[in-house]
Amino acid sequence: MKKIIIINGPNLNLLGKREPGIYGAQSFEDFYKDLKHTYKGFELSYFQSNIEGELIDKLQAVGFSYDGIILNAAAYTHTSVGIGDAIKAIETPVIEVHISNTFAREEFRHQSYISPNAKGVILGFGLQSYELALQSFL
Ligand code: DQA
Repeated sequence: MKKIIIINGPNLNLLGKREPGIYGAQSFEDFYKDLKHTYKGFELSYFQSNIEGELIDKLQAVGFSYDGIILNAAAYTHTSVGIGDAIKAIETPVIEVHISNTFAREEFRHQSYISPNAKGVILGFGLQSYELALQSFL
């Protein structure tokens, strides 16, 4: 069974409450429960942190043994050389996801330190972006 982890960055613990016009009304926990139920063929796990170094620690911890990483680095996408370097350093393929279409938003969200090192990028489909990323491992 393929081992896949979803890693969420800062403020994504507030999904459902946070700017629902952009990020939707569903909490990630509810969405994740449904996703796990639908895709029983994966060994799926989930990690969230608001702390950049914790995200890097997790990427290093899973990045030589898991089959795939689905990463929404949230605001760190646009700022973190450290997370970009961590993705370069590990072996597990990383799919970058975003809930919103970052290219349709402010200019500072057009820059990504994740994209050049990701296997692929999926954005703008709401929480379904995560599901599409997971399907890429089928
Ligand atoms: C986000 C987009 C980022 O620009 C923002 O900082 C987030 C969420 C998204 O999923 O749409 O926190 O990664």
